Amino acid sequence: MTDPIDFKALVAAAMDIRSRAYAPYSNYHVGAALLTPSGKIFVGANVENAAYPQGACAETCAIGTMIAGGERRLTAVAVIGSGPDLCTPCGGCRQRLFEFGPAETPVAIAAADGTFEVITLGELLPRAFGPNHLPDAPPA
Ligand code: THU
Repeated sequence: MTDPIDFKALVAAAMDIRSRAYAPYSNYHVGAALLTPSGKIFVGANVENAAYPQGACAETCAIGTMIAGGERRLTAVAVIGSGPDLCTPCGGCRQRLFEFGPAETPVAIAAADGTFEVITLGELLPRAFGPNHLPDAPPA
């Protein structure tokens, strides 16, 4: 049997990295933590830019860290934002996450104080277009 996922620890990792976010324009600091099948956690924070569209989301940065770390599958995700609302990944990041995890992948969406709810990637991105639509694509 596989170990139960420690969502509290995953949210704590996301909260920790959120303190490194570079978000001087929106002042909305985001942290993301990705748990992979090896049990490792890869983290990222949002990085804004004076040329606004060039900013990067926390999830996107965390995916880059995961790929650089040699892993390509998601077991679970945590995202934490600023303020009292649960931070749901933006549309682009939902698609980027779906590249590496199935619709069943649990996603902990957290408020700044660490309270969270667990939903699935499929709930965030129903009927998603993904790698299996491209049968000739190499496996991730
Ligand atoms: N942001 C993320 O990092 N992840 C999301 O899924 C939602 C939005 C960032 C982008 C920008 O730096 C700030 O939050 C405000 O939109």
